[in-house]
Amino acid sequence: MPDTHHANPSATPERTPVPAFDLVIFGASGDLALRKLYPAMAHRDSEGVLPPESRIIAMVHQARHIEDLPQQIIARLGAEGLSGETIERFMRRITILQADANDPRSFAGLAEALGASPHVRAFYLSTAPDLFVPICRNLATHGLLDGEARLILEKPIGRDLASAKEINDAVAAVIPESRTYRIDHYLGKETVQNLLVLRFANTLFERSWSSRDIDHVQITVAETVGLEARAGYYDKVGALRDMVQNHVLQLLCLFASEPPNQLEADAVRDEKLRVLRALRPIKGADVTRSTVRGQYAQGSIDGKSVPAYTEELGHPSDAETFVALRCEVDTWRWAGVPFYLRTGKRLGLRSSEIVVVFKPVPHSIFANVAQEALVPNRLVLRLQPNDGLQLHMMMKVPGSGRLKLVPRTLDLRYDTAFDFRTPDAYERLLTDVIRGDQTLFMRRDEVEAAWAWVDPIIQGWVEFNAKPIRYPAGSWGPSQAIGLIERDGRSWVDPEDI
Ligand code: BG6
Repeated sequence: MPDTHHANPSATPERTPVPAFDLVIFGASGDLALRKLYPAMAHRDSEGVLPPESRIIAMVHQARHIEDLPQQIIARLGAEGLSGETIERFMRRITILQADANDPRSFAGLAEALGASPHVRAFYLSTAPDLFVPICRNLATHGLLDGEARLILEKPIGRDLASAKEINDAVAAVIPESRTYRIDHYLGKETVQNLLVLRFANTLFERSWSSRDIDHVQITVAETVGLEARAGYYDKVGALRDMVQNHVLQLLCLFASEPPNQLEADAVRDEKLRVLRALRPIKGADVTRSTVRGQYAQGSIDGKSVPAYTEELGHPSDAETFVALRCEVDTWRWAGVPFYLRTGKRLGLRSSEIVVVFKPVPHSIFANVAQEALVPNRLVLRLQPNDGLQLHMMMKVPGSGRLKLVPRTLDLRYDTAFDFRTPDAYERLLTDVIRGDQTLFMRRDEVEAAWAWVDPIIQGWVEFNAKPIRYPAGSWGPSQAIGLIERDGRSWVDPEDI
């Protein structure tokens, strides 16, 4: 048998070729476009995936960006390590136009630039959500959303269920759901997609994937960054809306869903929706028992002192930069299995992972080893950094003396298993839109079901005056987050313990 273990999958051909496209980016001089969108497309370009005639139309609000944007993009692509030749070729694809999102007349230039181009058209709204509706209306007024045009919406879609519905209704009035792509970039991460492969391309784990064998699940998305340059956005939103409503719940959905019948957009999204709808509501006084809100105070990360959130912000604030939650999925599969979720900024380590803690063995057959000494199996799915998975299990210490058992780890790292650069999430997601594949995008009903679960938590915080508890930057959040899990006789598996 040939050894296929280490075959380089980057040698496998691309899926369906990417058709020629015109990608129009609104918010083209913004942080997301510069940090993620241009680099993603330029990497795809360097791999030869983008057809030569494809174009990127960068829509800016202020005339001065027509001048300074190209230099900013070039600097960013250089920092990505792309070659001068790739950057030059990529820059030739870009046209910069100015438009006021609220002024229909200013869309005439865009309409003219697109003209009767036969390319697949995709409009990426990388703007504040309050511009989604005017931009959509103005695109529709100029007939730009007709035919096969696609619309890409960046999160957050609204700030609660009512505002999300409003946006979704306005979008639905101008373009069908089948051509609307709501981005949650976590779904584009390699390891997140690998969760589906781990579960459904292997029999080993799926048979144990339920309350029969699993004691509880922990999902941690920890960041070391603070407010960055996003005060205007973040302070109005907070960690629950910024991270839990979307990324963390999407991880939970992929983890807890039933097997979709096939890897196809609606089959996958139907199953995720069922999980969201089965999440037991956390409301009323339960909010104070099952959730913890935190806000970082001054502290230190990597030996460097960092200021408090409010110092970075410049004024007092009740926005949370940390949330921990205990929740349950009321389904046959998951009855009685708590899911502990936590996410925060300025924590001790940048690390996202799902930790699956299995049940202990029912009885120790080893005369000199108490049952409690048999550490339950633990599967850790590391999303970032050092993507991979680890299985912790008990082993015999070699030797002929008294039988000794110790926990040891089976460690699979993607960077050693596969010899290629891990693409950024946006690289896949953008070309998926152009190909017309909605599998990794959130459907309207998913977004709304997630808000329907999150809204009562926010209402509970208001009703019970649950202000964020200060935690020192560089820690793992307020000690109440530890209490949340320890009350159940369990404890967080902190990434440094792994
Ligand atoms: C974004 C949030 O969606 O995700 C940010 O708005 C957060 O606050 C970011 O920092 C985290 O993404 P990643 O890919 O760095 O884990």
